[in-house]
Amino acid sequence: MKIGIVGIGAIGGTIARKLAGKDHYIKVANSRGKDAVKEFADEIGGYPSDLNEISDDVEVLILSVPYGAIGSIPKSVFSSLSANAIVVDTGNYYPEMRDSGIEGLGNGEVESLWLSNYIGRPVIKAFNNLLAHSLAELGKENGDEGRLAMQVAGDDEESKKIVMDLVDQCGFDPYDSGSLAESWKMQPNSAGYCCDYTIEELKSIKEKSAQTPESVAENRNKVMGNFAEFTGGDFSHENVIKMNRKYNI
Ligand SMILES: NC(=O)c1ccc[n+]([C@@H]2O[C@H](COP(=O)([O-])OP(=O)(O)OC[C@H]3O[C@@H](n4cnc5c(N)ncnc54)[C@H](OP(=O)(O)O)[C@@H]3O)[C@@H](O)[C@H]2O)c1
Repeated sequence: MKIGIVGIGAIGGTIARKLAGKDHYIKVANSRGKDAVKEFADEIGGYPSDLNEISDDVEVLILSVPYGAIGSIPKSVFSSLSANAIVVDTGNYYPEMRDSGIEGLGNGEVESLWLSNYIGRPVIKAFNNLLAHSLAELGKENGDEGRLAMQVAGDDEESKKIVMDLVDQCGFDPYDSGSLAESWKMQPNSAGYCCDYTIEELKSIKEKSAQTPESVAENRNKVMGNFAEFTGGDFSHENVIKMNRKYNI
């Protein structure tokens, strides 16, 4: 497929590398122009772009920037996409920390619905619910024992299927988390969020969960506000997963 990726950090960069390795045409951009992404694009066998060109002739556009940066991406990035192109949102909203309050996006609202309204296009939410280390290092071949699950949500079933297939190609079992309106169930500190669960484990945790959109936001604020205390100052991947499994229920 022809895939454009805005943001080549921990998440977008890893997706770009993995999908370039699966023979997709990968075009990448950040906020600093084509020259700033050339070295990375060359390294993964992709193509450098700037924001003016990133949407030209792509079938999928993956948006992988902090939510606080979305307002500075030119709207033309979205309006110049072809009508059938799929927009994928990997983002998570941290209003009290990195992203400071975004106008129109309240605490406990469905983040990708806000994004979809803001850009005026449907959105599929994916790649937001595993930690960067898991995405980069813990993928497995389809059918391998202990393969981790990645949640995907969205309204158009055909688009969701395509994104679920990309998730599979990146090394994870795609788990259908429902419509975009239901995607609060995969927002930060929802049940199973960034817990490194297999698909069976994830399904079981979600079935038992009594969370609501409001309680997910409360849990995000609680866990992020007490991160050092809850991890005991040990920020290793294993320990963060242990904390997530305790609180994201
Ligand atoms: N890290 C994780 O474990 C993790 C896990 C799941 C989901 N996420 C979510 O995924 C998204 C990306 O996270 P990340 O960890 O990959 O972030 P990151 O490592 O900080 O990378 C962000 C990327 O976005 C680019 N960017 C920033 N502002 C931009 C703009 N206005 N226009 C174009 N590009 C811009 C940055 O490049 P320049 O600033 O150089 O332009 C950089 O390439 C976030 O919403 C995050 O919450 C993160």
